[in-house]
Formats: sequence, structure tokens, C-alpha cells
Amino acid sequence: MKVFSKEKLWNYSSYLKNNNFNFNRSNILKIVTKEMIEDSIKVISNWNDYRPTPLIELNKLANLIGVKKIYYKDESQRFELGSFKALGGAYAVEKIVDSKKNIIVSTATAGNHGRSVAWAAQKIGIKCKIFISENVSESRAKAMKKYGAEIIKVKGNYENSLQECKKISNKNNWEIIQDVSWENYEKVPQLIMAGYTIMIKEIFDQIENDSITHVFLQAGVGGMAASMIAGFAEFSENAPKFIIVEPENADCVFKSIKNNKPTKVNIKKETLMGGMSCGDVSTVAWKILQNSINYCLTISDEAISSVVALLAESRLSDQKIVAGECSTPGITALIGAFKNNNYLNKLELNSNSKVLIFGCEGSTDKKIYQKLLNDGLKKI
Ligand SMILES: Cc1ncc(COP(=O)(O)O)c(C=O)c1O
Repeated sequence: MKVFSKEKLWNYSSYLKNNNFNFNRSNILKIVTKEMIEDSIKVISNWNDYRPTPLIELNKLANLIGVKKIYYKDESQRFELGSFKALGGAYAVEKIVDSKKNIIVSTATAGNHGRSVAWAAQKIGIKCKIFISENVSESRAKAMKKYGAEIIKVKGNYENSLQECKKISNKNNWEIIQDVSWENYEKVPQLIMAGYTIMIKEIFDQIENDSITHVFLQAGVGGMAASMIAGFAEFSENAPKFIIVEPENADCVFKSIKNNKPTKVNIKKETLMGGMSCGDVSTVAWKILQNSINYCLTISDEAISSVVALLAESRLSDQKIVAGECSTPGITALIGAFKNNNYLNKLELNSNSKVLIFGCEGSTDKKIYQKLLNDGLKKI
């Protein structure tokens, strides 16, 4: 495949080993507890239309680069929302509404999280206010309106929409359902992280007695990554290597690991991976990530369209996979390692490796997906 010979496409922008690595199961499960994990799985698996999303083997890619197995968790089929975000926000809304009646919920979002909150609010019959920045596409706004949410557009980027959400919600006594934490605001993000862990429960049911050696985790605020690690702490006997992948322009987890403290990043250029364009790591997520991540790396947007097309054309697996832009980082990082022996050794990848990758969204914005696919088809 001609696309694999284009070295530049798969280059890492930066790489870092976590010097503070010290995987501690019981510390991790103090943040997202066993009880929270069990409750979220019980609640979510009782929702209408619940079924585990597929775990697909990228057998063609595994053969090509010479690892034993690559598992791809395909969240494009998560309920009717098409991303893993359907799990967390909606679960948190349900739990908060259980404890406080007659509330209005609000959130700031790049799209997928807001869709989850709006979906749950509509099911329960409460009002929902969603703050989006000018970078969020009209079709993503429409998808949230479809679930009855009121959309409030904010000038600037995601951070600006979050600040506005906090200000207006506090004034009006709206209940913020946010997937990022800050001082004295940790309970909701913890519930959201617990909601995501059902993915790991499903994966361990799906792989039966197989094991996993490496997990590539894309990060925005780090909530998904931290909750997947909590899932491993709960369901897995051994700890694989956890590798964080971020856009080069929004590398708040990378910078935080480097400085050994949460570190803000000023986003100067927006990445195409909108769901990951976050400048601040979530403080609850950080409590898990700081000692559990083995390696961090960052990538550019260069390979996104090629990976979208490779998956759509079943070049990496026996079946066609619909993957949005935020589903591509793990594959890019994996191919990048095999294009550069230096990284291959650093990440300890070899022919015995069994890798897990998260395809965390499908075609959640049809226009953007079609454009990426058309661009990618010309390259592969
Ligand atoms: C599709 C998708 N993948 C990954 C992420 C990153 O998740 P987190 O912000 O919890 O790190 C997001 C965040 O919105 C997302 O929408």
C-alpha cells in the first residue's frame, strides 16, 4: 500500500516516557471505585437497545506490521449516538436526576458529550442547555437540537464555551454535567468516567481468555483514558502498557506528565480531531493518569484522512469500519512506531504484542466524515 511508504505521514511530533510511572490498582480504584463501576454497568446494561459494541480484529494491519493481534473497539455502533460518549454523560444525568428532582442540566461540548447529555435529558423529560464554541459544526449542533436541547453559541474555543457554561449555569442554578473536573467539582466527572468503563467489561467478555499487552488511548481532557485504566485495574489481572496519544496542538496530558503536575496548554491552532482539542487535563483523570501512563506521544493531523479511508475500505481488517477523526490516533501511533524502530523499541512493541485501540466515534458529523474519506481515498 503506497500510503505506508510515506514516512512523513506517520511521524510522531513528540514522545515522552513517564518517569513517575507506578501502577497502583488500589489507588486507581479510589478515584473510580469498584462500586461506581458496578453501578454504572448495571444501570447502562438496562437501558433500551443496550448491546455491547463490536471488538474487531485489525488482522490485516497486524500482519502488515508484524504484531500478534490488534483489537479495535468500534464505538461507531454505540446506541444511536455513534460514540462512547453516549455512556458517560447520559449515565451522569440519570444519577444526578435520581438525587435531585426538577433540574435543568447544562454542559459545554465539542459535540459527542453534549449529544449524550441531551439524549438522556430528553429521555427523562428535563430541559437541557448546551454551550458550544464557534468551532463546533452546524450539523453537530443540529444533532443536539434533535434531542430537544437549547444550543448556546460562544465566541472562541472549547475553553471559552466551558467558562461561559459555568458562569451562566451558576447564575441560573442549572446542574452542570461536565466531563472535566475542577476544584470542588469532581462527583459528576467521576460518574461520567464510571459510565465509560462498561467498554472494558465488554472487551474482557469479548477477548475471553486472551490478554492485552499495549493500549493506545487518545486524550482530550483525559477522562476516557483514565476510565479505561480504571477498567483494567478492575477487570484485568495484568497491567498492559498504556500509551496516551494527543494532537500536537492540544497536548495537555503530555505537558502535565512532563511537568509532573496539571499543565494548561494554550491552543493556538485547532486540530481536526475536535473532540480532543482540550487545553486542560481533568483533575480527577489526572489523579489516575499521573502514575499509570507509561508513554505519551503527539501526532499531527496529517494521517487522519488516510486512516479513515483505510478503515472504510477494509484494508486493515476483513470488514469495513466507519471511523470518525477521533478514532484514528491509535492506528496512526501504531503505524508510526513500525515506521521507526526507535519508537518500536521505546514502546516495547514486538511480534508478541496484543494491542487494543479505541475507535471512539463513527461518522458523528457526516459532512466532515465524507470530506475526510474523499481526501483519504486519493492517498491510499
Ligand atoms: C470521539 C471522542 N474521542 C475522544 C475524546 C477524548 O475524551 P476525553 O476528553 O475524555 O479525554 C472525545 C472527547 O470529547 C471524543 O469526543
